[in-house]
Amino acid sequence: MPDLRQGCATAKSAEDTAPADALVLFGAMGDLAHKKIFPALYHMVQHGHLDVPVIGVARAGRTNEHLKERVRDSIQQQGGEIDQEALAKLLKLLRYVGGDYEKAGTFDLLKKTLGSASRPAHYLAIPPNLFTSVVESLAKSNCIKNARVIVEKPFGHDLASAQQLNAALHEALPESKIFRIDHYLGKEAVLNLLFFRFANSFLEPIWNRNYIESVQITMAEKFGIEGRGQFYDATGAIRDVVENHMLQVVAFLAMEPPTGLHCDAIRDEQVKVFRTIPPLDPKHLVRGQFNGYKKEKGVAPESKVETFAAVRLEVQSWRWSGVPFLIRAGKRLPVTTTEVLVKLRKPPLDILGAESSNLFRFRLGPGEISLSLSARVKRPGEELVSKPVHLSVVEEPTADEVDAYERLLGDAMHGDGMLFVREDAVEAAWAIVNPILANEAALHQYEPGSWGPREADRLALDVGGWHNPEEDKEPSAHDPKAA
Ligand code: BG6
Repeated sequence: MPDLRQGCATAKSAEDTAPADALVLFGAMGDLAHKKIFPALYHMVQHGHLDVPVIGVARAGRTNEHLKERVRDSIQQQGGEIDQEALAKLLKLLRYVGGDYEKAGTFDLLKKTLGSASRPAHYLAIPPNLFTSVVESLAKSNCIKNARVIVEKPFGHDLASAQQLNAALHEALPESKIFRIDHYLGKEAVLNLLFFRFANSFLEPIWNRNYIESVQITMAEKFGIEGRGQFYDATGAIRDVVENHMLQVVAFLAMEPPTGLHCDAIRDEQVKVFRTIPPLDPKHLVRGQFNGYKKEKGVAPESKVETFAAVRLEVQSWRWSGVPFLIRAGKRLPVTTTEVLVKLRKPPLDILGAESSNLFRFRLGPGEISLSLSARVKRPGEELVSKPVHLSVVEEPTADEVDAYERLLGDAMHGDGMLFVREDAVEAAWAIVNPILANEAALHQYEPGSWGPREADRLALDVGGWHNPEEDKEPSAHDPKAA
């Protein structure tokens, strides 16, 4: 079946949709490039989707050879057999531009290296405090005409800084040329939420406040901050994953059907969801920090930054009014998994033992993605009693699967902004978390390997408690009162 996308209704000219003829990667020697971007480029080459020069920009004193070595190392670290032909092709596309981001000479050298390329895509995989000056320098050195700019998260630090950043980028570029990355929007499992909701008809009659009692999302990570102390300590869990990844999942779960599959149809619905979520009340936030965090490299000894956050929010729309949405995200929890649990209301009368609710559970990875529905059926035997069953569909990763960064880079290079965060959405998302960003709410310590501070339980008391993924293989809600 052909791809269902309808492109961008806002694309004004052939120029808007013409593919980029060079990819410029700022931050080429950095962690993100090594972990995510090089593997994505390698897969793009494998799939025949990348054959333009890739110019890595980073500090002075390195050479093309260093960049190639870094790419080789990144691909090796992925494990598995290496497609030598694809790797060789990728290495041939690489060029290195070294220099200070603050100096005009770096951008003059970039201009020279771009040669005849007239529609580059500039990918800013660099600390956010450099975004504005790099874009200004790109403009001054004449590298930005017809260019696209791909911006990594976090996009700003709060609402005001996101607004300033938007204004600064718009000095140099129209919105159609700006691609704000939230890699959750490129994930198969997250996109699958859209398909599950809108490619089926059985769900629509029940997907609302009349049948759904609560929604909870847990993003658990077993690992800690993995050498990213300096970044993390200036960021914290709310800015790192709640304001962006988690709110995007809420948007996909809560949005109205889009009018089509073109870029603004989806993004209009996303922003509508964000605008119906009132700014978070600090009473509905619980922050935690794992014991030992302050000893991590790059972390302040007195750090008040959270490595765990739980929030409770409302989507005040016709469809969702009164349904609690709970989000919990943390580092050093018992497992690494992201799970959405949608709990349905109980039948009106308990005649056949409806002691637990029907649940939809979506596992968004990593690894297998799954969907399960918990229901009650008759327990075989003479007695008329019920038992729970779980209907599950599990999809193991397949060779056809496209990694989020591969998908998003390909889209940005073709000018398709559907899976990127639009200016109004990024500001609306910051407006939701803005009141809880000040590190003022109490910070509770928790043991690595636990489910975070017990204080978070209070947010979920009336919905049967948090469900801890993997603790039991079956999705039965854990009752904090019983603990
Ligand atoms: C990143 C955060 O955006 O997302 C990380 O900065 C987090 O802290 C990561 O670990 C999670 O992404 P994924 O794709 O591994 O779920």
